[in-house]
Amino acid sequence: MSKVLNVKDVTKTYRLGEVPVQALRGISFELHEGEFLAILGPSGSGKSTLLNMVGALDRPTSGNVIIDGVDISELDDNELADLRKNVGFVFQFFNLIPRLDAQGNVELPLMISGVPRDERRDLAKRALEKVGLADRRHHKPSELSGGERQRVTMARALVNNPSFLLMDEPTGNLDSKTAVGVMELVADLNSKENVTIIMVTHDPEASQFARRTVRMRDGLIISDEVN
Ligand SMILES: Nc1ncnc2c1ncn2[C@@H]1O[C@H](COP(=O)(O)OP(=O)(O)O)[C@@H](O)[C@H]1O
Ligand SMILES: [Mg+2]
Repeated sequence: MSKVLNVKDVTKTYRLGEVPVQALRGISFELHEGEFLAILGPSGSGKSTLLNMVGALDRPTSGNVIIDGVDISELDDNELADLRKNVGFVFQFFNLIPRLDAQGNVELPLMISGVPRDERRDLAKRALEKVGLADRRHHKPSELSGGERQRVTMARALVNNPSFLLMDEPTGNLDSKTAVGVMELVADLNSKENVTIIMVTHDPEASQFARRTVRMRDGLIISDEVN
């Protein structure tokens, strides 16, 4: 399987006040097509910081992040934004547009990349089918449950056919029963649709659904194991 991501000796230091914060202190790992990786660690261990690098949202202080063979430290802001189209983002807060129905929300990234209307509609429909929401296409976010909203977010992330999905605490806002349903769907997307996934979580139960777990503490990887 081809390598979609290579993270080499990455550090990140935030300089806000007097005391710099070393959020990442030398992180290395690789990700191949078809993997489902959980990054597990307590709050403050650097998970979101790492996800921002891997999603080309931010550059490391030192080290290399290579996405689909491209080293992000060599890119300017426009090129970085371009590379970001290879990544599907699923964040804890759903960020759905309230005015638009599920279909409209999923079409949004396609509209931004200038995909024609009919094609947009078909692709969004198919993405909603993949997450089991075909019959909720014309519901607005306020008419959907928390779990359904998270599924719409997933369909929206999938619709551009990204190299991999990045999820930051995808079950963080959900009750435990709904969370299990969402995690089962994520595991299915990986095993049946061959979607490559990195999921960040502080919840060991959510990480059980992944096929590999990287554990973080204080900006370092403390273990990297197959589940
Ligand atoms: N934008 C920022 N500016 C300054 N410090 C930050 C910023 N983002 C995160 N940090 C600090 O970096 C460390 C790691 O944070 P974060 O990556 O959010 O951890 P996690 O997602 O595991 O909870 C924490 O000490 C946090 O306070
Ligand atoms: Mg976080």
